Amino acid sequence: MPESITGRPGETIELTDVTKRYPGQAEPAVEAVSMVIPAGEVVVLVGPSGCGKTTTMKMINRLIEPTSGTITIGGTDVLTLDPDQHRRDIGYVIQQIGLFPHKRIEDNIGLLPKRLGWSRSRVRARVAELLELVGLPADYARRYPRELSGGQQQRVGVARALAADPPVMLMDEPFGATDPITRDHLQNEFLRLQREVRKTIVFVTHDFDEALKMGDRIAVLRPRSVIAQYDTPEAILAAPADDYVASFIGAGGQLKKLALLRLRDVELAPAPRVGGLPRIVVDATVRDALDLMLGEGSDVVLVTGDFGDDAEVLGSLHLQTVMGAAAGKAGNP
Ligand SMILES: Nc1ncnc2c1ncn2[C@@H]1O[C@H](COP(=O)(O)OP(=O)(O)OP(=O)(O)O)[C@@H](O)[C@H]1O
Ligand SMILES: [Mg+2]
Repeated sequence: MPESITGRPGETIELTDVTKRYPGQAEPAVEAVSMVIPAGEVVVLVGPSGCGKTTTMKMINRLIEPTSGTITIGGTDVLTLDPDQHRRDIGYVIQQIGLFPHKRIEDNIGLLPKRLGWSRSRVRARVAELLELVGLPADYARRYPRELSGGQQQRVGVARALAADPPVMLMDEPFGATDPITRDHLQNEFLRLQREVRKTIVFVTHDFDEALKMGDRIAVLRPRSVIAQYDTPEAILAAPADDYVASFIGAGGQLKKLALLRLRDVELAPAPRVGGLPRIVVDATVRDALDLMLGEGSDVVLVTGDFGDDAEVLGSLHLQTVMGAAAGKAGNP
């Protein structure tokens, strides 16, 4: 990984008593929100339409100015910064993607670096490494947005937000416009990317399952961005703060818990000396293993280090252990 991409690690964002009143509105759109978003983490804001997610997010990069309260990034009060300069330090991905239709992909991605006065060759190199990072072929640089699929355009949107290597990224329903399969793929790619770049990411969605998958922490919001619960996905599933939060979890809470638990974090039993057992890789989740057990009619599966029949067997997982994991016993994440 070139140093320029991993160059600037995430910074902590802190909101203290942040309120936004739009002119002429009786109720504030956001009321007295306080939260700490730790450096290098993905924090997901989830809540119903109109609850104030976008308003809260846009106050961080000052596309919207707070009515009162303070926001700091890396300890610096953002209201003391020059707004344009500040906005360039924050990557921003919006639901509608917002690529310039008449500019080639390379010019869409390179827009901000160019504006920052980077040399032409440095911009070109940056565009090339970002295309690779988000998994697009190098020759897509010369294409126009309309020549890409929706999912590919989303990836360009992410590449553009990363262009000037910001410590903070704001992502407002970034994968909302794609079909479920593409969305799952983009989510996985994004999580892989984030393991490398370790930015501080504020991620907005109204899909709680997406929040569970993407978030290191989730803030479940009520109207006016009032925080109902702010915790890790595991903790929220294990103990929702109230009925409001529980209503987001919905049905299948136990299965959702198992979907967060990787086999590598579960204590495996020794492999039994019988042939023909179903096999599953250690990167899979306990939920995947349960699905395999149900599909194969077997109450034990072999866990392997890699795909394929000659992959090393690391141990076995029994249905009993899965049931313990649902009860919160077997995991040691
Ligand atoms: N410019 C504005 N002037 C007045 N009211 C506004 C303005 N922008 C947003 N609002 C109101 O503020 C509230 C919060 O809006 P916001 O866009 O933050 O919601 P959201 O949680 O992002 O919703 P969605 O999930 O639908 O995108 C809403 O009631 C909205 O109508
Ligand atoms: Mg919104």
